Amino acid sequence: LWTPDNIIEDSIARVRAQVGTDRVVLGLSGGVDSSVVAALLHRAIGDQLTCVFVDNGLLRLGEGDQVMSTFARHMGVKVIRVDAEDRFLGRLKGVTDPEQKRKIIGNTFVEIFDDEAGKLDDARWLAQGTIYPDVIESAGSKTGKAKVIKSHHNVGGLPEDMNLKLVEPLRELFKDEVRRIGIELGLPSEMVYRHPFPGPGLGVRILGEVRKEDAETLRKADHIFIEELRRADLYDQVSQAFAVFLPVRSVGVVGDNRLYAPVIALRAVETIDFMTARWAHLPYDFLDLVCRRIVNEVPGVSRVVYDITGKPPGTIEWE
Ligand code: XMP
Repeated sequence: LWTPDNIIEDSIARVRAQVGTDRVVLGLSGGVDSSVVAALLHRAIGDQLTCVFVDNGLLRLGEGDQVMSTFARHMGVKVIRVDAEDRFLGRLKGVTDPEQKRKIIGNTFVEIFDDEAGKLDDARWLAQGTIYPDVIESAGSKTGKAKVIKSHHNVGGLPEDMNLKLVEPLRELFKDEVRRIGIELGLPSEMVYRHPFPGPGLGVRILGEVRKEDAETLRKADHIFIEELRRADLYDQVSQAFAVFLPVRSVGVVGDNRLYAPVIALRAVETIDFMTARWAHLPYDFLDLVCRRIVNEVPGVSRVVYDITGKPPGTIEWE
């Protein structure tokens, strides 16, 4: 019988049998899948689990602290936080091509994770949040975005000489099942029902070159949008929502001064499978409120626009 309880008990028994007394390392991203794996493994093997959380400087507002407080402080999971903003932004300097940016972010992530895992010299296992749709996806084409997404998300590019064997306790589960297990394991529902966030993070939501100050601007604007969606009870009605930083300048007026500054685009979509999507028909009053807050509260934004492109032809992300 499928109940979250049964699945958890069964997974715990399997993980214990698989790893014995060995140490396990997990790349924690703050996303649903790796979070549920962390909670599950913590319950199964306690201190034998060490998580590595890489702050690449491309996370949402407060995300790093949130991951640390949920896992390290409240749940007592061992988490190594690596602050690698400078390393990521340094490598991205001058790079404008989206796929190039993805590659750099993915490779840097793997490199840092590999370094940290290497320091835990007795770690024998690598845990991953692979879920059933990932298994299906990677069984198909070896090219195209699906593979890129998977390889970034699930650290598929780790060097073979790492000698780590894989533990993938969610391999047979669908997303909704993973979520139910997460709730049962005591993860906060804001974490479990979060919108998906791409591996390259804000790196593909700042169009063109990624600069630190633009990431800060985008984080603030994005936070206002998400905060208002939650407040208006709209967050769970859309499948994904976020702000995008457009490095074009438009003219505005603030007080008596002329402003010539970048533009923020808001994107919100409704979708089942993320392969096709409809733009979310958010109420005008709501959009009005979000726009006012962003231009008033986030310095250096001249204008806010709302993206009304479906997928196809538009992708969900702008890059
Ligand atoms: P697109 O933009 O292709 O996005 O319509 C579909 C879904 O995939 C996410 N996405 C990514 N996720 N690495 C990821 O882990 C990526 O490089 C990437 N690109 C897009 C996107 O957020 C949406 O949920």
